[in-house]
Amino acid sequence: MAQEDTVIAWLNDAHGMETALVQVLEHRVKDAKDYPTIQAKDQQHLEQTRRHAEMVKNCVERLGGSTSSVKTALAGLFGTMQAPMTGAAQDEMVKNCLTDYAAECFEVASYTALITAATEIGDMQTADMCRQILAEDQEMASWLAENLPTVVREQLREMSREGATV
Ligand SMILES: [Fe+2]
Ligand SMILES: [Fe+2]
Repeated sequence: MAQEDTVIAWLNDAHGMETALVQVLEHRVKDAKDYPTIQAKDQQHLEQTRRHAEMVKNCVERLGGSTSSVKTALAGLFGTMQAPMTGAAQDEMVKNCLTDYAAECFEVASYTALITAATEIGDMQTADMCRQILAEDQEMASWLAENLPTVVREQLREMSREGATV
């Protein structure tokens, strides 16, 4: 496989990932209705994620590829995250936060790999685009890490008030 084709295939994986995450974040915005700070951040990152998907799609097309019928294993993996839990768990906010942090870290790893690969084949435009996306995913990952302790404390308090069990 030509190196260019490998980069296109990896960009396609990234596109599948961003598309799946758009759906996850749409659910998160609804789930976080009682947590305005989280909801606002999820809404902001939803808009960024929609833009990421679009940027990657345009990039694949510029390189002569197509994103249309690609259903990556990765998209399937992230897709399962959005499945609304039957009888939503009482500790849903914490569980969402853990999954979302993992997903953002996965994005950071993916774009780090893509920046290296694009640079290797001399495609600086793709490398620059990946750097822009990486910065926003890194920022979201850091925000989730910083806010996890607050979410855990709030959720514990909430659950003891309601006498909820996991
Ligand atoms: Fe992203
Ligand atoms: Fe992201």
